[in-house]
Amino acid sequence: MPQRLDISQLGSPVIRSIAQKVNDIHAPEIQTLIDDMILTCSDTKGVGIAASQVGHSLSILIMASTPNKRYPHAPQMQPTALINPQIISVSKQRVKDWEGCLSLPGIRARVPRHTQIEVSYFDREGKQKHTIFKDFLARLFQHEYDHLIGTVFLDRIESSQDIVMEKEYQRLMSEKETL
Ligand code: NI
Repeated sequence: MPQRLDISQLGSPVIRSIAQKVNDIHAPEIQTLIDDMILTCSDTKGVGIAASQVGHSLSILIMASTPNKRYPHAPQMQPTALINPQIISVSKQRVKDWEGCLSLPGIRARVPRHTQIEVSYFDREGKQKHTIFKDFLARLFQHEYDHLIGTVFLDRIESSQDIVMEKEYQRLMSEKETL
């Protein structure tokens, strides 16, 4: 049975660590970690999680986009493990939008991200994949990939004026919906 794992928070050294490449994707402990990360991500209502956030400095991330109030157009996808991901190219165009992070609870910020990103990775069966993520999925990928290089979303903001606390963020969003 998959287990829910503890989330490492900013200040824990693992959040600032550079993830190591996974050598044996088929190793039982790697497959178990992937299952545990998928469960932890859904249990915490996250749309993505990186291995460093559950205390393992390994190049594994989960993308599990699902539409919600904040992102009504977010695509519905099966939770997907991306192992040893690499960025091939990025769009020139960037846009700012809201992000939060399980490792920085209570904080939201507007973060500029490339609108399109071309990546390669290995899936959990060890097959190499090549894909292009756009818009919300491009943002999600960039956020999670950053965790693999010891970076969090606050490192990417243009101004501290783009940070708000969760309570005010919820207020902002509910006002927006009534407009
Ligand atoms: Ni995060």
